[in-house]
Amino acid sequence: MLLTTALLATAVSATNLFVSDYSGVITTLNLSEKNGSYSLVKTYSNDGCAPNPSWLTIDANRGLLFCMNEGLTSPNGSLSSFTINTDGSLEHVQNTTTPNGPVSGIIYGHPAGQRGIVLAHYGGSAVSAWKLNGSGKFSANQEFFYTLPQPGPDAARQDAPHEHEAITDPTGQYILVPDLGADLVRLFSWSADSLKLKELASLKAAPGSGPRHAAFYTPSGLAGSTTYMYLAAELAGTVTAYAVTYLPNNTGLAFKELSTQPTTGIYTLHRRNAPAEVHISPDNRFLLISNRNDSSFSLPRPNGTMIASDSLSTFALSPETGDLTFHQLWAAGGNFPRHFSMSATGNLVAVGLQNDQAVVVLERDVQSGLIGEPVARISVPGNVTNVAWDQERALGGLGD
Ligand SMILES: *[C@@H]1O[C@H](CO)[C@@H](O)[C@H](O)[C@H]1NC(C)=O
Ligand SMILES: *[C@@H]1O[C@H](CO)[C@@H](O)[C@H](O)[C@H]1NC(C)=O
Ligand SMILES: *[C@@H]1O[C@H](CO)[C@@H](O)[C@H](O)[C@H]1NC(C)=O
Ligand SMILES: *[C@@H]1O[C@H](CO)[C@@H](O)[C@H](O)[C@H]1NC(C)=O
Ligand SMILES: *[C@@H]1O[C@H](CO)[C@@H](O)[C@H](O)[C@H]1NC(C)=O
Ligand SMILES: *[C@@H]1O[C@H](CO)[C@@H](O)[C@H](O)[C@H]1NC(C)=O
Ligand SMILES: *[C@@H]1O[C@H](CO)[C@@H](O)[C@H](O)[C@H]1NC(C)=O
Ligand SMILES: *[C@@H]1O[C@H](CO)[C@@H](O)[C@H](O)[C@H]1NC(C)=O
Ligand SMILES: *[C@@H]1O[C@H](CO)[C@@H](O)[C@H](O)[C@H]1NC(C)=O
Repeated sequence: MLLTTALLATAVSATNLFVSDYSGVITTLNLSEKNGSYSLVKTYSNDGCAPNPSWLTIDANRGLLFCMNEGLTSPNGSLSSFTINTDGSLEHVQNTTTPNGPVSGIIYGHPAGQRGIVLAHYGGSAVSAWKLNGSGKFSANQEFFYTLPQPGPDAARQDAPHEHEAITDPTGQYILVPDLGADLVRLFSWSADSLKLKELASLKAAPGSGPRHAAFYTPSGLAGSTTYMYLAAELAGTVTAYAVTYLPNNTGLAFKELSTQPTTGIYTLHRRNAPAEVHISPDNRFLLISNRNDSSFSLPRPNGTMIASDSLSTFALSPETGDLTFHQLWAAGGNFPRHFSMSATGNLVAVGLQNDQAVVVLERDVQSGLIGEPVARISVPGNVTNVAWDQERALGGLGD
């Protein structure tokens, strides 16, 4: 017994994190833990998604990583695929030109059969669909381009439709694309044979709110049962809760608005907040949202000087009503947490700090749902756009 305890106390567990940044690279980080101390080191760098990697989509079951290049200074963007090696290095498989500005992608289709990936194109005002072959190869399937008859209420940001994310509903039968420019959440079903998308009636968000990212919640954990959706609006700085109903025969979703509140809950900010990422915790009890530009916190640097930090919000989820109860506002660890993701148990949060060119890992108490202190921080070459856990190769409770 004593021997076992001593062995456990000194065991090293490690997992990989993948980080995309606007300098053109995907960096692999090795996060390891030994006796409560964390170490975060750079192990590999890959430029196959150059010049402006904006998003990573991992296909854990097949050991694949898809990366979108936003094409910040070119007429088009691109989609790249990689196989993930056991040591966390990436091997480039394919590179293909896409409409401009892909910033998010989601895999859909038959879990064990024909699958595809849908991309949301912010700059190109488009949605594109691609067929996947299971080994990282992909081919064009469909494109939708959108226009606005006139700019939205925030004329500078809503000059055109701006597709900002692609997600699936919990059953996988629908694809949803928040459109920041058009104040819509576009909705699609897909054909079992061709994987082609069919556009259905959109959810209309508040004018000028700028819908960006969303997350679904099924209190029972069973897809198709009582369902809620939380939509973060970047321009309004709000989160809206919806009760979601499935219409018959795969004809769409109906949304009933339950509430809208600032993503910073009870706090009034002295700067305009631009919320970015939204996730439900792995235990299905909390909603986490990253806030950018709010500078709500000051954190000490190693040399004792202070830096401004934006924040992460946590809301408790009501399984009875889908309501959000504000739970915590906490330092994100730096500036512009454009993206974050939780380890598979939810005990760590990796935050991608766009304007700090850094990734910070925060501890999180799964029981209380409260985020805690930073346990590791590392600089990367450029403005961070996405940080993803290599769930497939997680070891010893770190990423799994
Ligand atoms: C593990 O950490 C604890 C608390 O910091 C410390 O007391 C102990 O000596 C450490 N054990 C080893 C094997 O380093
Ligand atoms: C993929 O395409 C992008 C954009 O054209 C290019 O910058 C990058 O070098 C390409 N990568 C590979 C591995 O061909
Ligand atoms: C990650 O770091 C741990 C601890 O230093 C080490 O044991 C492991 O081999 C590293 N993994 C890789 C893939 O570098
Ligand atoms: C490149 O971008 C233009 C403008 O958005 C678009 O019409 C064209 O289809 C794109 N090319 C490819 C190969 O996606
Ligand atoms: C995907 O396509 C590549 C190249 O054509 C081929 O080598 C590979 O076997 C295919 N994979 C599957 C699962 O069909
Ligand atoms: C649903 O589809 C089935 C089979 O096509 C049809 O019999 C039924 O009338 C449809 N129901 C509705 C509500 O459209
Ligand atoms: C950041 O806050 C300032 C002050 O409120 C505001 O002028 C600016 O537009 C904000 N930036 C973003 C990206 O929201
Ligand atoms: C503290 O560190 C920061 C960041 O490295 C640096 O910009 C600043 O000048 C340092 N301040 C002092 C007083 O050493
Ligand atoms: C990159 O970060 C800097 C702050 O370090 C910021 O001024 C700049 O707007 C950012 N650019 C992009 C494209 O993210």
